[in-house]
Amino acid sequence: MNSEPLHLTGVEAVGGRLGRELPAGSVVWLQGPLGAGKTTLARAIARSRGVGTDATSPTFGLVHHYRGPGGEIYHVDCFRLRHPDEAADLDWQTLTASDLLLIEWPERAGAWAPPASVRVRISHVGDDLRRVDLE
Ligand SMILES: Nc1ncnc2c1ncn2[C@@H]1O[C@H](COP(=O)(O)OP(=O)(O)OP(=O)(O)O)[C@@H](O)[C@H]1O
Ligand SMILES: [Mg+2]
Repeated sequence: MNSEPLHLTGVEAVGGRLGRELPAGSVVWLQGPLGAGKTTLARAIARSRGVGTDATSPTFGLVHHYRGPGGEIYHVDCFRLRHPDEAADLDWQTLTASDLLLIEWPERAGAWAPPASVRVRISHVGDDLRRVDLE
């Protein structure tokens, strides 16, 4: 739990800590409204996991793929799913067999979204301030 409002650097620090502390195989749900900072946090997690750059290469559609020293990191953004059934096209077996699986808008994947090891909720407090709750 981490409820005090955080500036960008603070949010990135939360991501840094998650990236260092999460065991291999963790699934991270990133939830919150448009522009809350879910992608920002996902990239901070990947960076602290040893991924060298911000470069994201979509492998199939909604999936960004990073190769880190600890293995594959997948970052799935379900925002554009119009219906949870569309998530059936994703290779969830490969996604969950990775070092880390980061999922934005998991609620849009319905029951396809694998259970979260950590659920991160981000909300706006002010222009540049966010509340980040972990559970
Ligand atoms: N304290 C903060 N924490 C995170 N992002 C911040 C903060 N203050 C400002 N920002 C800015 O807010 C934006 C957040 O964008 P980001 O793409 O990470 O949001 P998102 O939650 O992934 O949105 P979407 O739902 O559209 O995918 C970035 O431009 C970032 O620089
Ligand atoms: Mg995003």
